[in-house]
Amino acid sequence: MPKVTFLVAGQKREVEGKKGDTILKIALEAGIPMEAACGGMGFCGTCRCRVKEGSCVSPMNDNERNLGITPPERLGCQTTVEGDVTVEMGEE
Ligand code: FES
Repeated sequence: MPKVTFLVAGQKREVEGKKGDTILKIALEAGIPMEAACGGMGFCGTCRCRVKEGSCVSPMNDNERNLGITPPERLGCQTTVEGDVTVEMGEE
């Protein structure tokens, strides 16, 4: 199982994620709040987060490009975990 490390407001939380699940799904299942105003459809941008270099995630998709997302920013609802991942949430 991939290890998913969430960095939220200076706090570090490690959880196990299922390969192929979105960052949004893994966060919510772990009780880590991540906004998802459009319900994970890839339109609102509220699930925006930063994926640290070296993380193993799915490639960018059109929904992300349409919202002007550029790495390391990603949409939590559109980005799937393919291996170990570190995700930073909240303000930089
Ligand atoms: S939840 Fe709306 S873009 Fe991800």
